[in-house]
Amino acid sequence: MSTQIGSDEKFVTDTLLSKDQYDNFRDFLEDSCGIVLGDNKHYLVTSRLNKLTHEFSFDSLSSMLDELKNKNDAKLKERVIDAMTTNETSWFRDNYPFELLKENLIPEIVKNNKPNRFRIWSAACSTGQEPYSISMSINEFQMKFPGMLSMPVEIVGTDISSTVLDMARRAEYDQLSVSRGLSEEKKKLFFTSMDGNRWKLNDKVKSIVKFNEINLLQNYALIGKFDLIFCRNVLIYFSADLKSDILNRMAQILNPGGFLVLGGSESPTGYSRAFEMTRFSKGVVYRLKDENS
Ligand SMILES: C[S@@+](CC[C@H](N)C(=O)[O-])C[C@H]1O[C@@H](n2cnc3c(N)ncnc32)[C@H](O)[C@@H]1O
Repeated sequence: MSTQIGSDEKFVTDTLLSKDQYDNFRDFLEDSCGIVLGDNKHYLVTSRLNKLTHEFSFDSLSSMLDELKNKNDAKLKERVIDAMTTNETSWFRDNYPFELLKENLIPEIVKNNKPNRFRIWSAACSTGQEPYSISMSINEFQMKFPGMLSMPVEIVGTDISSTVLDMARRAEYDQLSVSRGLSEEKKKLFFTSMDGNRWKLNDKVKSIVKFNEINLLQNYALIGKFDLIFCRNVLIYFSADLKSDILNRMAQILNPGGFLVLGGSESPTGYSRAFEMTRFSKGVVYRLKDENS
């Protein structure tokens, strides 16, 4: 262990950033993916990017950041953004959004909006746990109320990171990942054990989920319209202006009467007037306001 600590210390000394370099990197990160870094996150930057410095054979973090600034190296840019984003997720995260989906949102949308196709967007979906938890909830709803949700259902999971999307598309999870938020009952119902240590999601849950690489800063026109948008635990990283911009653009691709589900500490209040808070017994979601209200 002592060897490792020694070599880390040397590496950190080699990779100290000047104020200009740090400020340039902050601008790069905010412009390319929206993430706002505070004034004192030098340690976070060095600890997350050290490995890449080796991988791309730079002699220091400073020279890697210079390259990032001066050359348009798409691969390096993608890997740096990947390293700086937080991909933390779990099955049925916070539980209540998925209960609410079955108890309130599906019945409301089916009754009031009568869609031909029921479309759900899981924006910033990381390694797939959120869209697949939605798919399992849909499956449970259909088993409990046969015929009530008879139109085709499509779930679109998107993220900025191609690495997490590859994992999501594969839909195979190790023991640690399946243990995070998944009951034994759901594991048995929706997964097949591969070798005791890996679990493969069943086709029924997987087949209605499609994945696309989408940066939330960019245009959403190509993904169509949705009845429901889950955008959880990502707006917290963005500036107030960017939150407003994203929420207003999400409102434009929600069908009338559609709902937005945010993370527990997120809200459109103060950022967008397009939504009204709707309180159900299990929790709060945001309904797209009528154009005339
Ligand atoms: C903390 S995870 C949240 C995952 C999931 N929504 C949940 O609540 O469990 C945040 C995700 O946002 C993605 N992300 C960060 N910036 C993004 C951007 N500008 N566009 C799209 N996805 C982004 C990250 O790659 C990461 O997978």
